[in-house]
Amino acid sequence: MFLKIIFIPVFLFNFSFFQAQAGSQEENRILVVYYSRTGTTKGVAEKIRQELDADIEELIDTKKRTGPVAFHTAGRDARAGNLTELKPLEADLGDYDNIIIGTPNWWGNITPAVRTFIVENDLSAKKIGLFGTTNLTGIESALEQAVELIEKENQREIPLLGLRSRDLREEILSDKIEKFIKEFK
Ligand SMILES: Cc1cc2nc3c(=O)[nH]c(=O)nc-3n(C[C@H](O)[C@H](O)[C@H](O)COP(=O)(O)O)c2cc1C
Repeated sequence: MFLKIIFIPVFLFNFSFFQAQAGSQEENRILVVYYSRTGTTKGVAEKIRQELDADIEELIDTKKRTGPVAFHTAGRDARAGNLTELKPLEADLGDYDNIIIGTPNWWGNITPAVRTFIVENDLSAKKIGLFGTTNLTGIESALEQAVELIEKENQREIPLLGLRSRDLREEILSDKIEKFIKEFK
């Protein structure tokens, strides 16, 4: 009996403490969302996810984006700022206060998939970080385009990480991701 009297309050206290801890972790959950046509942005997204112990979701554009014709229409859609149809997300954005968005550069623009994600979701209360990959040119203007779209509703400072092919070497990439994450936190 005596043991029960001691044990039950201790158990209840521990249980509520555990719940409070889980709650605070929930509040800080991070989702990395990215589009990648040929895997480069995906590789960076995975690395950021690992560093932050975040969840991750790939944006799937239902429009065909491979092959020479699709390459042309991809560029045209990006330049025109066209939206696309995304496969529905598996993640519930309501579960995340922090979202990191990744896109390839398409002729100085964000991809239609990422534009659609930004336009179709309410990001106003989220902390946002943006990263993007390119061969050589245009990543700054692409990321600025995303910032403009997001800033229409969200007044927070948005950390940016633009990566050229030459930045993807392990030692350079790790360094750049580390700086980006410091800024994001
Ligand atoms: C339609 C299209 C347009 C692109 N425009 C540029 C460009 O203007 N400058 C550049 O350096 N790379 C450009 N690229 C190359 C991609 O930005 C680069 O390969 C990127 O890292 C690919 O990411 P992903 O593998 O995640 O799809 C373009 C690629 C595509 C498909």
